[in-house]
Amino acid sequence: SSKAIILVGGGTRGTRFRPLSLDIPKVLFPVAGRPIISHALSALATVPSIKEVLLIGFYDDSVFKDFLAESSMEFPQFSIKYLREYRALGTAGGLYHFRDAILKGHPYRLFVIHADICSSFPLAEMLSMFEEKEAKAVILGTRVEPQVASNFGCIVMDPATKKVIHFVEKPESHISNLINGGVYLFDRSIFDVIAAARNARAEQARDDPSEDEDAQEVLRLEQDILVRLAQADGFYVYETRGFWRQIKTAGSAVPANALYLQKLFQTDIDAPHLARASATIVPPVYIDPTASVDPTAKLGPNVSVGPRARVGAGARVKEAILLEDTEVKHDACVLYSILARGVKVGAWARVEGSHITPADHSTVTFKNGVRVQSVSILAQDVVVGDEVRLQNCVVLPHKEIKSDVENEVIM
Ligand code: GTP
Repeated sequence: SSKAIILVGGGTRGTRFRPLSLDIPKVLFPVAGRPIISHALSALATVPSIKEVLLIGFYDDSVFKDFLAESSMEFPQFSIKYLREYRALGTAGGLYHFRDAILKGHPYRLFVIHADICSSFPLAEMLSMFEEKEAKAVILGTRVEPQVASNFGCIVMDPATKKVIHFVEKPESHISNLINGGVYLFDRSIFDVIAAARNARAEQARDDPSEDEDAQEVLRLEQDILVRLAQADGFYVYETRGFWRQIKTAGSAVPANALYLQKLFQTDIDAPHLARASATIVPPVYIDPTASVDPTAKLGPNVSVGPRARVGAGARVKEAILLEDTEVKHDACVLYSILARGVKVGAWARVEGSHITPADHSTVTFKNGVRVQSVSILAQDVVVGDEVRLQNCVVLPHKEIKSDVENEVIM
């Protein structure tokens, strides 16, 4: 059998997802009507050999309680558990800390997934490559524009064999535009590599007593482990042609929402709550069954409408996420924006961000030379008055916006 581990991080890590992470942990934020990590679970459910999925992070146990109960019902094919690190141990430190739990039942393959990515998850293809190459490790690679590559872990491969020959996390100069997609397939020997990295670290500490013991335990897959794997044999890269995005900032939920909705629309047009194309619906659009949308409102493309949300007559919503209990009054317009729980947008108001170019992997843009958020984000219970225009703003919870604003963070 095999297992999967999803690295979910913790409260202090999700800070770039503010102000949305004030209300809900990033990995549970809904895109295309479901928590971000549910999309990874759906992909794992297509791999028959996976019998257990472990979420590893340092959130409080209570955070995942409801999610685990719901997911266990939805995915009876595997058991799902949450393992809590007592503090952030790094992407490999957590794996090592829970190695006994992970190795229990002698799984022969381990998928490890970063929770904060949006991907087509070509897991079957990664497995085939693993078998075919008799690999020890396979990493998902994806191509990005050369000018943004250095924000990621960069992979240099041998094009003939697909063997990874070099891995550098956030290199200072350009080495490759094939980057780490945050999905790995390992065999059990990964724990030997982590142990070796730990020992090397301990030895270093002996020479340099200034490094404290806590820091020693922190091990990162990218900097400490993948670099080592690249120096040995058996490490391959599967280059995906499917979609891939990082979900770091709150604004990146908008492109992730779009990608997952498009995938759903293309693969399962009869999926529950996917609205049919009509004069007022431009697919893909997801509408929770408890939401109410006036038949004269125009929605889409790439819109998710959450539970009990209300969209009034003549409203226009495009490239947006409306969470539960939001209200968009009649003739209002919401574009390239996220409305968190309980947000109200007044009649004839306009809430908008800017168009995001998929290739740049960024959620900031420049307007008149000033760096602004491409996506407008209204945190919980924000109220936008009638006829108010709000552009490229982030608004913290409970604020009331009474006059037009542009390019601001409103606290
Ligand atoms: P960048 O360095 O800018 O890429 O941001 P980051 O540090 O948030 O990303 P990183 O590659 O470290 O994290 C990848 C995934 O692992 C994310 O889903 C994180 O939430 C998760 N993660 C990061 N650190 C830890 C950790 O210490 N423990 C656990 N369990 N998960 C972690």
